[in-house]
Amino acid sequence: MHAVTWQGNQKMEVRRVDDPIIQEPTDAIIRITATAICGSDLHLYHHGGPVLEEGYVVGHEPMGIVEEVGSQVHNLKKGDRVVIPFNIGCGHCHFCQNEMESQCDNSSTESLYGGLFGFGKLNGNHWGGQAEFLRVPFADFTSFIVPESSIPDEKVLFLSDILPTAYWSVQNAGVKKDDTVIILGSGPVGLFAQKFAVMAGAKRVIAVDPVAHRLDKAHSYNQVETFQLDDLATSGDDLYELTKGGADVIIDCVGMDGLEPVKEKAKNLVSLQSGTISPIQMAAKAVKKFGTVQITGVYMTPASSYPLQEFFMRNVDVKHGQAPVIHLMPKIYEMIANDEIDPTQIITHTMALADATKAYEIFDQKADNNIKVVLKP
Ligand SMILES: NC(=O)c1ccc[n+]([C@@H]2O[C@H](COP(=O)([O-])OP(=O)(O)OC[C@H]3O[C@@H](n4cnc5c(N)ncnc54)[C@H](O)[C@@H]3O)[C@@H](O)[C@H]2O)c1
Ligand SMILES: [Zn+2]
Ligand SMILES: [Zn+2]
Repeated sequence: MHAVTWQGNQKMEVRRVDDPIIQEPTDAIIRITATAICGSDLHLYHHGGPVLEEGYVVGHEPMGIVEEVGSQVHNLKKGDRVVIPFNIGCGHCHFCQNEMESQCDNSSTESLYGGLFGFGKLNGNHWGGQAEFLRVPFADFTSFIVPESSIPDEKVLFLSDILPTAYWSVQNAGVKKDDTVIILGSGPVGLFAQKFAVMAGAKRVIAVDPVAHRLDKAHSYNQVETFQLDDLATSGDDLYELTKGGADVIIDCVGMDGLEPVKEKAKNLVSLQSGTISPIQMAAKAVKKFGTVQITGVYMTPASSYPLQEFFMRNVDVKHGQAPVIHLMPKIYEMIANDEIDPTQIITHTMALADATKAYEIFDQKADNNIKVVLKP
């Protein structure tokens, strides 16, 4: 089959690789019909070296048609149309049974983390879904059957990750009625987090990003306030002033490749981490006393300039992690089916899987007004 493979930093190439086969009786093989590129893939694109081998198949936002099932798969059959979550959950461990599927005990037995598609050896070394076919372990639990055949792929594809991730971020941060919420990053995850924060009753939602067209989308899609990091000369202090004492909740939807505001840069002389922690530094300043910072953006290395003192001295709660998405898929599907949310609004590019190298470039550069790319095998 053809698949998007990591061939070194900033080298995602479509190559011919072995077709996946059933390895365990609980596996299924899916023929992919649509698959997306995520901000998390960009972290691997830039810093994949420590966790990926050359030739590794990436991607974790796929959907498609069941092609084959193992002898112990009971809920799925050949021909079913499924969305595959980025979490791989066994379905019966403590974590899977208690809505914490991103930390399943049985899907990444060589590490202390849960299994994820397309994330390399720390997360179980499962090949990803930017491919023509995908092996799905624990397929009964690690899948969502699309109930309605007429609903297009584009409407349900993001149940795989970014919709439930954004929903969980807002819930986990404890956003409540009349809160002021700052969402750092107005990419796909940030845009959906803004939407769910508004739906949770937040009085004021402020979208922050350096990229103008992504803030335009925040305004048109979610009718929220926008704050452009102008020439990156803005720091958290400005957001603190704008919110007159800080936001109740700040959600980092940027992660480890955040651009650094210049005011901060001079101070961060010591830096051990890959990428930056600029969103966390901004959040530490822009959050209210006793507020909450939810770190949904992905960080994969230790950080030397982590603002521990700000969080401690101002009684800030900090929460983070890989979103447990499997239990949220049916609930968010209902929101889509009832037209409470139209996720297709963020898709700017639909391209052939064969053009993935170009697609990664466009998404990374935010070129051509890009927000989200869907690939079609
Ligand atoms: N925790 C999870 O389970 C989970 C799931 C999915 C995605 N993620 C992570 O969420 C993050 C966002 O994903 P995405 O697909 O929207 O990615 P993206 O890269 O498209 O979006 C990030 C946005 O942040 C903006 N940005 C850069 N520096 C900034 C700064 N200092 N302050 C504010 N904005 C800044 C960028 O311009 C961009 O628009 C990524 O880190 C991704 O890995 C986490
Ligand atoms: Zn993702
Ligand atoms: Zn499990």
